[in-house]
Amino acid sequence: MAKHILSFALLFLLCQTGRASAPVAPTPAPVAPIIDGNYTDKLAYLEICAPNGDWLPFANKTVCKAAYPFLLDAIVATEVNYNTTLAWGHAEAVVLGSDVVLHPMGIANTYGFISSGVGEHLKSLNILLIIFSMNSDKSHYTDVMASSPSGNESCVFTSTLEGFNGFNFSLTKLLVPP
Ligand SMILES: *[C@@H]1O[C@H](CO)[C@@H](O)[C@H](O)[C@H]1NC(C)=O
Ligand SMILES: *[C@@H]1O[C@H](CO)[C@@H](O)[C@H](O)[C@H]1NC(C)=O
Ligand SMILES: *[C@@H]1O[C@H](CO)[C@@H](O)[C@H](O)[C@H]1NC(C)=O
Ligand SMILES: *[C@@H]1O[C@H](CO)[C@@H](O)[C@H](O)[C@H]1NC(C)=O
Ligand SMILES: *[C@@H]1O[C@H](CO)[C@@H](O)[C@H](O)[C@H]1NC(C)=O
Repeated sequence: MAKHILSFALLFLLCQTGRASAPVAPTPAPVAPIIDGNYTDKLAYLEICAPNGDWLPFANKTVCKAAYPFLLDAIVATEVNYNTTLAWGHAEAVVLGSDVVLHPMGIANTYGFISSGVGEHLKSLNILLIIFSMNSDKSHYTDVMASSPSGNESCVFTSTLEGFNGFNFSLTKLLVPP
């Protein structure tokens, strides 16, 4: 089981890496050495992640929407306490009323936190992973990844479409009806 979760974690990191490699604006100078606060994100978007870690912007989202109506537009609150100098701290997200501990991901230029497992309630809903990520300008996003009933893909409910690899997602949204 642990191995199963780990493989999803790796897959998700692949997806994240794809997103992170998109062109971004110059990184503003780091601000507060301590991030200590509560942040909320609305999971307003849904993206599909392939088994090999690619984002699938043109994939059919119907089954994900049907399986997780309670995730779309859900609000996730995350409490972060992190010393950026030490690169040490933790975060705790509240997803559908359940607490999930998040650990620092150790990715350069962003403060990312990832779950290493979820509790029984979220597990029973086939929710696999939570990510909270903050930039040095304190903009942030949350991703909640769940398994897709249709096969090996994953349903990723996210609060942002920014930085997706190689695609203009606002254009994609116009071309592909939800
Ligand atoms: C975050 O919210 C929790 C629960 O309401 C509260 O105990 C805590 O003091 C808050 N932390 C900050 C930094 O505002
Ligand atoms: C998406 O999948 C659903 C359910 O399988 C199907 O009914 C629908 O026609 C598909 N939509 C497109 C655009 O292929
Ligand atoms: C954060 O880490 C730095 C470097 O070790 C340390 O000097 C500072 O006191 C720490 N801040 C807090 C609030 O723990
Ligand atoms: C899922 O992946 C396995 C192993 O790669 C493959 O055998 C299977 O056909 C895939 N299932 C679907 C529905 O794509
Ligand atoms: C994406 O597409 C929208 C709508 O066509 C356009 O306004 C925007 O400039 C594009 N953004 C990028 C980064 O290409």
